[in-house]
Amino acid sequence: MTAPPESADRPILEVTGLSKTFVSRGLLATSRPVKAVADVSFTVNRGEAVALVGESGSGKSTIAKLLLRLERPDEGRIVLDGDDVLQSEPRRATLAYRRRVQMVFQDPFGSLNRTHDIAHHLERPLLRHHRATKHDVRAKAIDLLHDVGLEPAEEFITRRPYELSGGQRQRVAIARSLAVDPDLLIADEPTSMLDVSIRMDILTLLTKLKTERRLAMIMITHDLASARYLADRVLVLFRGRIVEDGPADDVVTAPAHPYTKALLASIADSGELGPATAGVDPEDIPTEGCPFAHRCPDLLDVCATTEPAGRTYDGRLVRCHLYPENKD
Ligand SMILES: Nc1ncnc2c1ncn2[C@@H]1O[C@H](COP(=O)(O)OP(=O)(O)OP(=O)(O)O)[C@@H](O)[C@H]1O
Ligand SMILES: [Mg+2]
Repeated sequence: MTAPPESADRPILEVTGLSKTFVSRGLLATSRPVKAVADVSFTVNRGEAVALVGESGSGKSTIAKLLLRLERPDEGRIVLDGDDVLQSEPRRATLAYRRRVQMVFQDPFGSLNRTHDIAHHLERPLLRHHRATKHDVRAKAIDLLHDVGLEPAEEFITRRPYELSGGQRQRVAIARSLAVDPDLLIADEPTSMLDVSIRMDILTLLTKLKTERRLAMIMITHDLASARYLADRVLVLFRGRIVEDGPADDVVTAPAHPYTKALLASIADSGELGPATAGVDPEDIPTEGCPFAHRCPDLLDVCATTEPAGRTYDGRLVRCHLYPENKD
């Protein structure tokens, strides 16, 4: 009998059927619940970067919050390195869990404390998560700065965040997330607040870390060009649903879902996700059928009545009636 596959072969993250509906507690009795994440399933392997793309309000950050366990899903499973975390972990994320899933935020200045030097930002997590002792913590913090390309590291370590550029601050934020040796790094729009000239440097750094450390990454982005550069796979979200999931090059160069096509067309026109894909008034959201039906140029009769299940097409998953359903 052959041995079971090593855990290294198993995806580090397996998300199945994740759903989250927010019921806003506003004053309006008419306010409808918002299905922010609906039946989302995907996997991420070690050394793999997955990009989550979609217009504002499509549920990208909610997925990140569910994975960080800042929000609890209504349904679904999150298996991290074989561990069914919603079953095995306490309701509130523990210190040990917080080590495993790290986040890099959009605003590198907001995420660093201006009263503390860089050493503090790196040494604190190293000590708190027992990745260093009092004796070697400074050396380990300096090593992290080398890893993220902040040279001379011995000089940067004593600076304060306001003495760094935006790109340098984002490097510190990345170093801080690496300090605890996470299983999964989630980066929410990591380059969108940076000057265009240095965005590529940060993407190159993330790519290097992914390869050298076999780090699993989820990058949330509006920018399909960045997604294509960094990510191995692109997941396209529309109203909380994954409408397309496939190899980054294929999704970006030959999109299958009409929504992905619209996204790419809007980028071709304006350079980023523009009005062609802007969200609609919540009153216009259909309650049955395909959620994209009211904006779809390729509408079929069935689209108005039946929400399409996912089907595999050309090496990817597409949720669209234009493609034949898979036979079991
Ligand atoms: N705590 C909350 N309470 C109520 N509704 C929420 C809450 N968090 C998110 N939502 C709603 O859920 C939907 C998805 O929001 P989310 O922040 O995940 O979108 P996003 O894709 O990250 O958008 P953006 O690109 O603008 O950051 C939106 O309609 C949002 O208004
Ligand atoms: Mg967001």
